[in-house]
Amino acid sequence: MAARQCIVGGNWKMNTNRASASALAKDVGEACSPSANGVAVVVFPPFPYLMEVAETLVDTGIEVGAQDVFAEPEGAFTGEVSVSMLQDCGCSWVLCGHSERRHVMGEPDDLVNRKVLAALAGGLKVILCVGETQAQREAGQTDAINDAQLRAGLNTVDATGIENIVIAYEPVWAIGTGLTATPEDAQSAHAAIRATLADVFSESAADGVRIQYGGSMKPGNAAELLSQPDIDGGLIGGAALKAADFAQIVAAGA
Ligand code: PGA
Repeated sequence: MAARQCIVGGNWKMNTNRASASALAKDVGEACSPSANGVAVVVFPPFPYLMEVAETLVDTGIEVGAQDVFAEPEGAFTGEVSVSMLQDCGCSWVLCGHSERRHVMGEPDDLVNRKVLAALAGGLKVILCVGETQAQREAGQTDAINDAQLRAGLNTVDATGIENIVIAYEPVWAIGTGLTATPEDAQSAHAAIRATLADVFSESAADGVRIQYGGSMKPGNAAELLSQPDIDGGLIGGAALKAADFAQIVAAGA
């Protein structure tokens, strides 16, 4: 099995202001760089603060990503932001298909796929988020939903492209709710995700893809989740807004 580097992302969502985003970035830089110990760390601030956060984190080894991107390079797309704009602001990563984009903004699979392809073509690394709702879990559809979201989101991604993608498994019912998948349930979903990746690409490609868990991961449950064989990191929302909590999760992945 490939040794996969643990990757922890901090998704700040629509939180912070200019001053608190800079302060959080500074604190994360100080708290996480020493504890990272081989763990890759990426933060995803709101668009307006990307540049300042990227400047604050320069030389810390912590990378910066955006929470979303549009699929077109430029033009009449009011309110949207392109891949090259994100790169101009210091981003090397982007989230695609976060559950809040899918379920609050109504983003469909084919748009998520266009964003993934545009990001890869422009040289951004992608965290592609998938996950089932509560009703889908209760109906026993967890693996089928993840499989369908993966196949659609990764449509026409090639062997080089998948090397620049991380998958985040984020059960919708666990995001921001305080509810967490048990380590066993999360591991089972991650193993099924890896099987889909093996089917779409190859066993060896799937073996190299990092799959993060997201959904109320916090200092108290991170170590157990991250010790599962197919859980290669975390995508953290609420607990990423406190540098000390975020640093403890990063340390748990080291
Ligand atoms: P949460 O969010 O940690 O607050 O549940 C995770 C996410 O949405 O990425």
